[in-house]
Amino acid sequence: MALDTRIYLSPPDVGPAEEEAVVRAVKSGWVAPLGPEVDAFEVEMAAFVGASHAVALSSGTAALHLGLKALGVQPGDSVITSTMTFVATANAISYVGANPVFVDSLDDGSFDPALVRDAVETEQQSGTRVGAIVPVDVYGRVANYSAVLPISEKYGVPVLADAAESLGASRDGRMAGTLGDVAVLSFNGNKIMTTSGGGMLLTSNAEKARYVRYLATQAREPVVHYEHRELGYNYRMSSVCAALGRAQLSRLPEMIARRRTRRRQYQTYFADVPGVSLLPGNLDEDNCWLSSILVDESVSGWSPLALQQYLEGRNIETRPLWKPMHLQPLYRNARFVGGDVAERLFHSGLALPSGSSMSDPDMDRVLREISTFLRST
Ligand SMILES: Cc1ncc(COP(=O)(O)O)c(C=O)c1O
Repeated sequence: MALDTRIYLSPPDVGPAEEEAVVRAVKSGWVAPLGPEVDAFEVEMAAFVGASHAVALSSGTAALHLGLKALGVQPGDSVITSTMTFVATANAISYVGANPVFVDSLDDGSFDPALVRDAVETEQQSGTRVGAIVPVDVYGRVANYSAVLPISEKYGVPVLADAAESLGASRDGRMAGTLGDVAVLSFNGNKIMTTSGGGMLLTSNAEKARYVRYLATQAREPVVHYEHRELGYNYRMSSVCAALGRAQLSRLPEMIARRRTRRRQYQTYFADVPGVSLLPGNLDEDNCWLSSILVDESVSGWSPLALQQYLEGRNIETRPLWKPMHLQPLYRNARFVGGDVAERLFHSGLALPSGSSMSDPDMDRVLREISTFLRST
């Protein structure tokens, strides 16, 4: 029996607008990094989120790396971040020679501000400098900045917002990307919008934006020959990628609306399924990048892994939630503050197909297959 075509978790949603933009960039002759498409993409993204300055970079990871440098994080510093995140957040902290201190989650996956405060106090009392706090907007829900920003202020620690997953989301009327001293976006292929690969740093601080641009272009001094005083990086975005990003940005509200529709459909569907709830969120605020269920096996009688394997056999991609960083072999020696909330989310969660290009028949197929699975358990 031929398998149905694969339904992916969050594939790129690209079409004629993106094709036209990429061809435009190629025809213009600006296929090298930088150029007018990059400048325009920065201006348009800054306007969309309401940030003063935007620097387009080669990835979200590069943006995190340079964001930490722009905040003055030093080797040996501690940096407080969420244990529930993609490894890039923690790796960027390691790139600058700092040590991540991982903090446990609230039930929506974002880090617990009370534990953040404990972590900052403990580090500072032991004489360790805390270089930054890095909240992560997990799965497109903005972290609780109303609680985190006062901690930053009280203890004198800057905030780098990892908004890689939350472009277009808001919380308490404030847009992702405008919170913290610097914020970072990702345009990786599976994100809410893509440049095939890319990222951006946003800030209201002109000097920090200038410094990040400088570091991202090999820290070249503004003289006619190649003069370098500082260690730099080749982290800028290419013109072709920026053109793609501009087309995606013009469609972003419509793409977010479609992801929210899918979230609503999952909510309705699972409302009647015992032992299953959706990862808590807010449909009016979150960008609904991924929609995830939490399964209480003692009630449902089946595990998220069993559903994952069943759907995989039907060519439907799903994925466990992020494995917490303090459980990763790479970070086994890192400090961790908290209990088992993130660990329980990891074991009970499953992210379901959530892409904005998913058609209605594909969504019907996903729900039909889940129904067949539920009948078989
Ligand atoms: C929370 C988080 N931070 C950072 C990144 C890194 O972004 P990039 O893949 O663009 O380097 C990602 C996604 O990949 C992410 O989900």
